[in-house]
Amino acid sequence: MFWWLLAAVCSLSHSELLSATVGARNAELRQKFIPPAEAAVNSGTKFMFSFLNSHLDTSPANDSEILTVSVTNPSASSANIVITSPWPGFQQMSFSVASGASQMVTITPPSIQTNYMDPEFEIIVVENKTLTLISSQPVFVVTSNTHTDLDHMDKYSVIPVCQLGQEYHIVGDQSSLAGRLMSSNIFTVIATVDNTLVSIVDYGSKGPKNYTINTGQQVTLATFWYTTNIVVLANNPVAVISGAVCGFGYYNQYECSQETVMLYPINNYGLHVPYNKFLPEDFGEMMVLVQENNTNLFVDGIQTFAGLSVFNYVIFRFRNGGYITANNPIYGLAVGSTNVKDQSGPFFAHLPAQNNFVSSPITFPVAQADNEKSLSNYARVVTLIGNIGFMQLDSYVPNGLAYTRMGRSNFYFIDIPVQPGVHTVSSLNGGIFSVTVYGFGEITSYAFTPGLDLQTSGTC
Ligand SMILES: *[C@@H]1O[C@H](CO)[C@@H](O)[C@H](O)[C@H]1NC(C)=O
Ligand SMILES: *[C@@H]1O[C@H](CO)[C@@H](O)[C@H](O)[C@H]1NC(C)=O
Ligand SMILES: *[C@@H]1O[C@H](CO)[C@@H](O)[C@H](O)[C@H]1NC(C)=O
Ligand SMILES: *[C@@H]1O[C@H](CO)[C@@H](O)[C@H](O)[C@H]1NC(C)=O
Repeated sequence: MFWWLLAAVCSLSHSELLSATVGARNAELRQKFIPPAEAAVNSGTKFMFSFLNSHLDTSPANDSEILTVSVTNPSASSANIVITSPWPGFQQMSFSVASGASQMVTITPPSIQTNYMDPEFEIIVVENKTLTLISSQPVFVVTSNTHTDLDHMDKYSVIPVCQLGQEYHIVGDQSSLAGRLMSSNIFTVIATVDNTLVSIVDYGSKGPKNYTINTGQQVTLATFWYTTNIVVLANNPVAVISGAVCGFGYYNQYECSQETVMLYPINNYGLHVPYNKFLPEDFGEMMVLVQENNTNLFVDGIQTFAGLSVFNYVIFRFRNGGYITANNPIYGLAVGSTNVKDQSGPFFAHLPAQNNFVSSPITFPVAQADNEKSLSNYARVVTLIGNIGFMQLDSYVPNGLAYTRMGRSNFYFIDIPVQPGVHTVSSLNGGIFSVTVYGFGEITSYAFTPGLDLQTSGTC
């Protein structure tokens, strides 16, 4: 069952880079799909998603999860929202969100979490726990899963159905083997149309595991083992949510926390990924997945790996940050962690590549739930050096001197404190930028990326 392999690499000349580890997975031939031609920002009118399990034991009385969905409406007219799910006990929800406002709703029952209470691990199961959200206007949707005591938290941006695809590479927690849980890593694959063939490639050694599922059904795997770089293929667009029930990030102490992202299809990977650690981390950890064989990775212009294959992935640790570039498209994922003073906690966050940056405004909600109000919340704005005096959060335009360079790149970032409410980041000169919203408290944190330029099928 040891079909994963780790090997340390020690040829690092750059002082910012603390370590780089390459992982690999043996597997079958991989199919490639032709990417759609158009690109658009990820707000939309139809979303399909699920909550990954965050219930740490088999007693319903112990941990209690608060599951929420926040719908933010940047459009000029009010949006009518309907949320449905086939899961027994879920009641259909209908509400409206005024122009410029955000509305948070609580999703019950907690058993709607995939693989709730961990009954099925190391087994791929088909479940009916998908939520479908339909809006009359383009909206931005973010989910949150947190325990009542604010522990075990993460959030993810929901990618609209129009931006889903047919090939994904899973990301999981790399410290899962240290966990005390039956499962730690978990992902779910949701069908958006009937008769969807889902293939889980590289899980086990006996070839792809195939499932044919209908609209709103999903294939879920929860496992004690590593999941990074498992490949999901489908013959129709699918939604994939990936992470850990309770991962440890880099600082492997006794407290674990949920880590989640909704993945985007691999045809959105890019060549230039700027990275810097998040507040208040001691150092930064991020993972890089590759899309093609013979991929060479460079950190701050220095070649760090040559000839990586599609089966490889790399875990980088940085003192502060670095600029990761490659000769073929790559994907970067930030892994948050608790620092030595017990501040912050594990989370997963997309690291937008330059081709995922946008130039149109990004509107997002902060600290929607009462139990989140004690967190320190930030909007990280990343842009190119030519735009640093021109980025605006609501009516605040930070001075260009307040930005920090990301490795040896032309990308700079600023972490702007944000209060609970709805905020908008925009560019005064039409320059491109990305936003990561994150927050943290004592042994807890979340992060999500509210606006990414992703391929679209054209029917948002
Ligand atoms: C990458 O190389 C492997 C092994 O050599 C091969 O099986 C696979 O088809 C290649 N994939 C791509 C995308 O070229
Ligand atoms: C779960 O709750 C039961 C009582 O409701 C308690 O006996 C048990 O120790 C708790 N388990 C954990 C892991 O907290
Ligand atoms: C899911 O829904 C399908 C179709 O209604 C049903 O046949 C199946 O038994 C359900 N599966 C579970 C695990 O509830
Ligand atoms: C599983 O699906 C893949 C397509 O993703 C196909 O090539 C393969 O033949 C299928 N295997 C089985 C056993 O059905």
